[in-house]
Amino acid sequence: MDRFTILCTVGMVLHLWMAVTEAEYMKYKDPNQPVNVRVRDLLSLMTLEEKIGQMTQIDRKISSKEIMKKYFIGSVLSGGGSYPSPTASAETWINMINEFQEGALSTRLGIPMIYGIDAIHGNNNVYNATIFPHNIGLGVTRDPELVKRIGAATALETRATGIPYTFAPCIAVCRDPRWGRCYESYSEDHKIVQAMTEIIPGLQGDVPANFPKGIPYIAGRNKVAGCAKHFVGDGGTTNGINENNTVIDWNGLLSIHMPAYLDSIKKGVATVMVSYSSWNGEKMHANKKLITGYLKKQLQFKGFVISDSQGIDRITSPPHANYTYSVEAGILAGIDMIMVPEKFTEFIDDLTSLVKKNVIPMSRIDDAVRRILRVKFVLGLFENPMADYSLVHELGSQEHRELAREAVRKSLVLLKNGKNIDEPLLPLPKRASKILVAGSHAHNIGNQCGGWTIEWRGLAGNITVGTTILTAVKNTVDPLTEVVYRENPETELLKSNKFSYAIVVVGEPPYSETFGDNMNLTIPESGIRTITNVCEAIKCVVVIISGRPVVIEPYLAKIEALVAAWLPGTEGQGVADVLFGGYGFTGKLARTWFKTVDQLPMNVGDPHYDPLFPFGYGLTTSPTELRASQ
Ligand code: BGC
Ligand code: BGC
Repeated sequence: MDRFTILCTVGMVLHLWMAVTEAEYMKYKDPNQPVNVRVRDLLSLMTLEEKIGQMTQIDRKISSKEIMKKYFIGSVLSGGGSYPSPTASAETWINMINEFQEGALSTRLGIPMIYGIDAIHGNNNVYNATIFPHNIGLGVTRDPELVKRIGAATALETRATGIPYTFAPCIAVCRDPRWGRCYESYSEDHKIVQAMTEIIPGLQGDVPANFPKGIPYIAGRNKVAGCAKHFVGDGGTTNGINENNTVIDWNGLLSIHMPAYLDSIKKGVATVMVSYSSWNGEKMHANKKLITGYLKKQLQFKGFVISDSQGIDRITSPPHANYTYSVEAGILAGIDMIMVPEKFTEFIDDLTSLVKKNVIPMSRIDDAVRRILRVKFVLGLFENPMADYSLVHELGSQEHRELAREAVRKSLVLLKNGKNIDEPLLPLPKRASKILVAGSHAHNIGNQCGGWTIEWRGLAGNITVGTTILTAVKNTVDPLTEVVYRENPETELLKSNKFSYAIVVVGEPPYSETFGDNMNLTIPESGIRTITNVCEAIKCVVVIISGRPVVIEPYLAKIEALVAAWLPGTEGQGVADVLFGGYGFTGKLARTWFKTVDQLPMNVGDPHYDPLFPFGYGLTTSPTELRASQ
């Protein structure tokens, strides 16, 4: 080869190399570029089809690698109880999610999907996860630092299954316990709900000092994106009817239902979910003033807004009556990601044609996609889209179970202790010749956990791993104490035996959402019978397992001691810890306990306030054992 040929060849090779690296260098793929630059770059490369795919969230039940790829799907979720199998291992969850992710990554631009789940009291759809008390119990603790640690543990258990996004926390301010979701609310008092937004830095990590307001923040691979829900006024509906109408003026909305959103945004919450409910007759899913005007513009929220499941369908009555209109109204109101979650081609087709007809401007689509991509970049999904098995040991770990047990101890409220002050029944002696444990909720993990546990509505029975209250009692008493257990003790047994005392554990069956709406708030008749039969025969402590205050006044005189345990979750040992004086009772009601349902709604500060037990009430006991520190 002569010099000229050599030079030419070198030149050609160089040119080719440069072209190749230029094609390979994509700003959005460069983690050293600022997030905004990456978002802008990626957005500029996307087709309408790819953008609409990002805005589409589908359920895992109908998802596949092929669907992810073909429709450029941006997000997949597990709805309540949407699991690969009821006892699936962390590895099974990871494999399933990674397969969907492979589909997303095999598209032209390789934008990772974000997988979301309701990890609302621990990673509760997953077998063997630590199930923490529902929010109603956590409000009682008045301990935001504890709730932050629960957030951190939940993040780990959620990541353990390959999931980077939870639809939590619910920051509803439940103003009427007849609402089926009251247990998802920390309190009737917005100040307690505000304080408990500390779960957000637990889930997502602490926002660094001087971090700009409104920008989503997630600290790394041990943290997850959170979701403040349901925007706004979900806990204020008339008579507590789920998904109904919240009638309140602007000042009322701002002072009761809105404050915790301001806290959440300050703490860098990544997403906000819109409420099914209406505000003064207008569906929140179509409320542009509040979603775009207030949340995005006024409050400067820069994460993405997600609809609730089929939330836009319910803009019309009956739902889905005019889906094209629903898509138009929901997207124009400012919703960025739609939890479709099944009929996704209809959503994609409708949105595409609305954009092509200029009913929905491209600027609205770009705003939505920008926000979704921002959260994905902040989450580090582009760098680490695939989950690995490195955190599987976190699922249901001993450390997290200890934390849940601590939370259970602090969430108990002692409402009565002895027929008179001088003769308290609690703490119970560990040594007794024979004691009785009774009731529908004494030996039933499913009942103890409530709704949103493995199944959407929860399920009575042996549904996951944990310690029932009966087992906890047996673990705690002196080895010489005989423990007799009957779900419904027969009269003969009560009469013919000498029991030192009885522990009766009864309450509400598991429920979720509308299935929990209840206008009479009575516990099932069998529970009442157990209270009556046992407490008439034996000195008894009654432990109520419920998602809210229930009717108890008619039986109160028969009951020697009364404990509200709410929905404690898998760690029933926490109940025995306190009943037997290992720890003292410290919990204070975060809700008003009514006398009769016709007093409702009745919240602290109301002019007609006349409760059975007021907001803030809770007797205390001293621990009988010495301990270096809690
Ligand atoms: C609930 C939400 C939940 C979503 C996904 C809806 O029915 O209202 O709170 O995040 O389902 O499961
Ligand atoms: C889903 C839940 C959802 C509920 C209400 C159920 O089928 O699994 O996630 O919250 O429907 O829409």
